[in-house]
Amino acid sequence: MTPEIPHLPSYEDPALDAAFEALHGEVATRSARITTLEERETFRLDWLGRKQGRLKLIGDAWLKAAPAEARRALGLRFNQLKQAVDAALERKVPDGSASRSVASAVPKASLDLSLPGLVRRPGTPHPLLETMHAMVKVFGDLGYSVNLGPQVETDFYNFEALNFPPNHPARDTQDTLLLANQSGKAARDRLLMRTHTSPVQIRTMVANDPPLRIVIPGKVHRNDAADATHSPIFHQIEGLAVGPEITFSDLKGTLDHAMKAMFGADVRTRFFPSFFPFTEPSADVQISCIFCGGAGCRKCKHSGWIELLGCGMVDPAVFAAVTDERRRQGRDPEVYDPRRVSGFAFGMGVERIAMIRHGVADIGQFYSGDLRFLEQFG
Ligand code: DAH
Repeated sequence: MTPEIPHLPSYEDPALDAAFEALHGEVATRSARITTLEERETFRLDWLGRKQGRLKLIGDAWLKAAPAEARRALGLRFNQLKQAVDAALERKVPDGSASRSVASAVPKASLDLSLPGLVRRPGTPHPLLETMHAMVKVFGDLGYSVNLGPQVETDFYNFEALNFPPNHPARDTQDTLLLANQSGKAARDRLLMRTHTSPVQIRTMVANDPPLRIVIPGKVHRNDAADATHSPIFHQIEGLAVGPEITFSDLKGTLDHAMKAMFGADVRTRFFPSFFPFTEPSADVQISCIFCGGAGCRKCKHSGWIELLGCGMVDPAVFAAVTDERRRQGRDPEVYDPRRVSGFAFGMGVERIAMIRHGVADIGQFYSGDLRFLEQFG
């Protein structure tokens, strides 16, 4: 609908006054009827619409055709009319209840375009993931591949193939969450929540021929009570290297490099005799305390050393289990003959490393979902 504009008989002052008086009258009566945002918008378009608004039509019809001497008088009145329309719009800012359109409910004067916009900041990696990625990268740079495995695992992969025989007391070190209704199955097929990432060593060797170098990050589960340093679900990174002539010196050199890459070139490592069923010999690795440099402080319990991971040379019994399983699956069983290959393995807790790296005192913070904690790692 094209709004009509009054007829202008001449550009003499009385004619202009009469025409603009009629227009002002219309602005007044029409704006008085506005009660909703929609009506206000119709009014605005009616007068200020860029194509069909009355002011535009008046400009086209009257201003353009005006003789030079009438321009000033006409322009003045035109501006007054525009101000009257603007003022009417200002007055008719509904309280918002009449409309869903918030944008047009904002009075012009309060729209401050110099204010910064609403910025959606990118998220930050969780400190546990960030630590896993950093560690995986250290080994990736050494030529290691990455593998993952299932969290619901069989007894065979989690224990038996790793040289934990059924009922062996070594199983007690890993309080295991068993799945229900497994008693009808053969012992090796019973399902449980994996207690460590070591079963993926077996899966990797069963599926791949040597030589291989692999790191395995992932979630593990134990029936442990939560406290400041324990959680029933936590994360580990496992490593495995198998090849024709891999020695304990390779293990020491690799882990020494990895600890320096992770914690700084000044860090020293030492290897303590230990026991794991699937490695022989086995060792615990300690690094010189990153807080006191080895002098002794509260963090390292005044020993100068922090224990960080377990490791060792792959036990021949593990190669034997892999060989059996490969035979069962119809794969070349000879390639993991301990007379032909040797290997080393290591495993570390991600939470512990992240706590040391970031000075976190309570493991529970990692799982709290508290943004105030998490945003510190951005
Ligand atoms: N799986 C062991 C644990 O969870 C950690 C470990 C120790 C892994 C020595 C290894 C290793 O690969 O060689 O307690």
